[in-house]
Amino acid sequence: MMTSRNEFIPYSLPMIEDEDIEYVLDTLRSGWITTGPRTKEFEAEFAKYMGCRHAIAVNSCTAALHLALDAIGITGGDEVITSPMTFAATAEVIRYFGAKPVFVDIEPATMNIDPEKMEQYLAMAAGRGAAAPKAVIPVHYAGYPCEMDYIQKMAEQYGMKIVEDAAHALPSYFKGRRIGTIGDITCFSFYATKNITTGEGGMVTTDNDEWAERMRIMSLHGISKDAWNRYSAEGSWYYEIVAPGYKYNLTDIAASLGIVQLRKADRLWRRRAYIAEMYNAAFRDIEEIEIPLSSLSGPMDQGRETLHSWHLYVIRLNLDRLSIDRGRFIEELRERGIGTSVHFIPLHIHPYYRNTYGYKPGDFPVAYETYRRIVSLPIYPRMTDSDIERVIDAVSSVVSIWRK
Ligand SMILES: Cc1ncc(COP(=O)(O)O)c(C=O)c1O
Repeated sequence: MMTSRNEFIPYSLPMIEDEDIEYVLDTLRSGWITTGPRTKEFEAEFAKYMGCRHAIAVNSCTAALHLALDAIGITGGDEVITSPMTFAATAEVIRYFGAKPVFVDIEPATMNIDPEKMEQYLAMAAGRGAAAPKAVIPVHYAGYPCEMDYIQKMAEQYGMKIVEDAAHALPSYFKGRRIGTIGDITCFSFYATKNITTGEGGMVTTDNDEWAERMRIMSLHGISKDAWNRYSAEGSWYYEIVAPGYKYNLTDIAASLGIVQLRKADRLWRRRAYIAEMYNAAFRDIEEIEIPLSSLSGPMDQGRETLHSWHLYVIRLNLDRLSIDRGRFIEELRERGIGTSVHFIPLHIHPYYRNTYGYKPGDFPVAYETYRRIVSLPIYPRMTDSDIERVIDAVSSVVSIWRK
């Protein structure tokens, strides 16, 4: 399971233990493998963990975002605000409706959407008599929560709904409030690299009964009752299609993995936070590297002010102090057996968004300049202390060789 001295340390590995495997095997042996009792159990435990009214399990965060935008009534021609510093999913779901993703640049410290720039956009649009965007999708980048007070204030002022992209944010807190309980609807990912995983999977949370009902129906072909009930002893053959829905349900195989993963989510988080602390201590005084902003509070069980999920540990290279660029930096780490990644190539510089909306890199200068400097280092609970040390040694050695 653990990596040894000379093995390659990948950028991410899931934390699958015997208890995960046993529960999945139990489901496989039970005779019920698609959406059923385990999915119900996962949803109930997730809602309890979050402290929200509804949790609906789906097969990806992309599906969750799609269902959320459908529930709040996004249609063609609407605008939806989001950050360019995100994965394809966040903006593509806006395009599913023929709506327009409006990017707002990020703030340098958190790499999250800049609420002041968002306010400027909203004021400008109002000034020229344009309709306000229907919704905003704040992305809690790397797991550091967005400035939700400010975003909520603007959503109220301009009549926008808030659909949070919390793919990275389990567990995260904003000023004592858990991410998953703040916006109108929140979307989580259980993709293989995420803080808890079901291989592929997602969850959508809300306190709104009507939206929850709509999302549940749309997640399974627009059928007005759970299809799995149809095959159980108390079920009946009858069902009605009330809308052309999607096939977004989570299987019980995946849900059983999710149940065990959720039960240890806080323990897994503690190990991530420990690794982040080790990196912070090692890199804080290296001038060629900028370390990420840490959570503002102490341990998770106290205070619970603003808490970073440490899904990603993203360093920014101070390129003017180095004689190599980011690409070469990554190569040098790979040669030392360290896997890394880049989160993200900002959406506005991808061909589709460039060609469709005529965006240029400089349109969102903070996102673009940040992109050129970022490297995501390995951070996951399966890393041993010696893995952490190897990453620290490799980063320190590359910097010392290539500093100007
Ligand atoms: C910020 C962000 N949003 C959404 C997604 C989509 O998640 P999923 O793969 O579960 O659809 C990802 C996945 O990596 C992500 O990083």
